[in-house]
Amino acid sequence: MKALQNKIITEGIVLSDQVLKVDSFLNHQVDPELMLGIGQTFAALYADMGVTKVLTLESSGIAPAIMTALILKVPLIFARKQKSLTLKDNLYVETVYSFTKQQQNEITISKKFLSANEKVLIIDDFLAYGEAAVGMARIVESAGAEVAGIGIVIEKSFQNGANKLKEAGYRVDSLARIMSLSAGKIEFLEE
Ligand code: G4P
Ligand code: NA
Ligand code: NA
Repeated sequence: MKALQNKIITEGIVLSDQVLKVDSFLNHQVDPELMLGIGQTFAALYADMGVTKVLTLESSGIAPAIMTALILKVPLIFARKQKSLTLKDNLYVETVYSFTKQQQNEITISKKFLSANEKVLIIDDFLAYGEAAVGMARIVESAGAEVAGIGIVIEKSFQNGANKLKEAGYRVDSLARIMSLSAGKIEFLEE
């Protein structure tokens, strides 16, 4: 997606050869017009797939996911991050390890919002090692529902999340794919 690539080039800050800061349009301040374009792009890719719900993880996934859900005319659910829970009766729960933050989080979705006949499009802002996406996919499957695919705004292709998800059989659509952040320079994988 050209508009996204341009935004990354002009506003992205390379924090290290592993981490790209995009807090001016995605992770803190949010560019609504760009989010709408992202939603339109994901919605077009999944237009004929019978998607019944969009699923993301709070908080930065919500902006691109709500635009996708708006265009697809389906509800958005965001999984919540919680510290270890006591009451889990009415929740689907998965443990997700964050390499970036080096901590475990439990992500949860209320059982009342996900049922067996759903076809779910998972959206996230970043794909690094794929832990968050795998956690969301496991929850969808434990509900007996189906994962239509995984839509990612920014994939860091030099980390192994995309490969891992594809090897597990999921369709992955990333709107920007970063090959390298080495030497302070952002290099994209060309389509
Ligand atoms: P993974 O799910 O793919 O394995 O990634 P990881 O655990 O490493 O990611 C932890 C958090 O860091 C996630 O946000 C993820 O979106 C974000 N992240 C990963 N790599 C980058 C990066 O290069 N740049 C930026 N800006 N973020 C990155 P989160 O903790 O869920 O926070 P939130 O922003 O959604 O609230
Ligand atoms: Na994030
Ligand atoms: Na995220």
